[in-house]
Amino acid sequence: MPNDAKPASQGMPLAPGDKKFLHALKGGLQKVPPIWLMRQAGRYLPEYREVRATTEGFLDLCFTPEKACEVTLQPIRRYGFDAAILFSDILVIPWALGQGLRFVEGEGPKLDALGDEKALAALADPTKAGEALAPVGETVARLSANLPRETALIGFAGAPWTVATYMIEGGSSRDFTATKRWAHMAPDSFGRLIDMIVEATVSYLSAQIEAGAEAIQLFDSWAGALDAASFTRWVTAPNRAVVDRVKARHPDIPIIGFPRAAGMNLYGYVEAAGVDAVSLDQMMPLDLIRHTVQPNIPVQGNLDPILLLTGGAALDAAVDAILENLSAGPFVFNLGHGIMKETPPEHVTRLVERIRAR
Ligand code: CP3
Repeated sequence: MPNDAKPASQGMPLAPGDKKFLHALKGGLQKVPPIWLMRQAGRYLPEYREVRATTEGFLDLCFTPEKACEVTLQPIRRYGFDAAILFSDILVIPWALGQGLRFVEGEGPKLDALGDEKALAALADPTKAGEALAPVGETVARLSANLPRETALIGFAGAPWTVATYMIEGGSSRDFTATKRWAHMAPDSFGRLIDMIVEATVSYLSAQIEAGAEAIQLFDSWAGALDAASFTRWVTAPNRAVVDRVKARHPDIPIIGFPRAAGMNLYGYVEAAGVDAVSLDQMMPLDLIRHTVQPNIPVQGNLDPILLLTGGAALDAAVDAILENLSAGPFVFNLGHGIMKETPPEHVTRLVERIRAR
């Protein structure tokens, strides 16, 4: 973060009425850190599976505000997390751009892959994404009216590089060959695709903020796939473009970046992406976070989701190590990536109790 502009609340104690999560994002210090978990709503919860079974498919759940609101609230009721994250998906942006999208049980998302730059001409107007995704805005408005007063509401989108990988590969990928080849062989047309995703994302996030989202997270789940130069060009710069344009409309909204598996590229990202806080994966060593990242920017993370699945003494020890290293600075407890669907819900109870017992 450009440190010339440290927020005024840096180091300030929590005041009555402050939301713990938003306070930490502004640099505030707390003895017990706020907590929420990526994928806190989802298949590990029996009550989620029950609602999901009443829908035609996953997208139908995302686009039915009453049900999407209900599944967002489920983990808040069960665990009392400090933040709720809107229930939707990063792939609604390709959908809003007119790309065919379906979720196949057990196989993950399938999209009609973009073959080459000629396919860009067939995509829909990105400035209309917020309107095309009006049901998601409606979910946010319902959440805003129904959340407990101490719970913050997070909106989100995928970052452009990660969304582009799904649009070009047609689904999840191991090595992103088609996307990287396009980026290297035809950077101008790849850049046009990235610009369209930026435009659609700004439209979508603005609609979420106008409906009541109080903070935003940008998920760059596949940031770690790129070499250093490509990372600067296709991760940091497009994150910056989204942040600048969202902040031009909504200057006070905190934005968390999640450049997963960035490794050493994290430092350039923190300098130049313009985000207010950074979410870290479990590969990042705690002493490095504490000494080289947290002095510059509030951090969120970074328990390995497999430890939450494992539970017991291994979970307790890892939680303690994170708290010992990071709770003296601005910090939000989270995982290094999303909850795994086999995770026993009681392990989450154990995690929350251990953190709050401090
Ligand atoms: O609770 C929450 O975190 C909010 C909802 C949320 C979902 N997806 C719901 C979901 C969020 C924030 C996401 C983000 C997302 N989606 C990311 C970025 C974070 C990450 O995990 O890296 C990515 C890459 C996606 C794309 C995506 N969506 C994939 C690859 C899949 C299939 C995964 C699988 O395990 O099958 C999805 C589907 C999806 N998104 C589910 C949920 C709860 C499971 C689908 C179901 O219920 O049938």
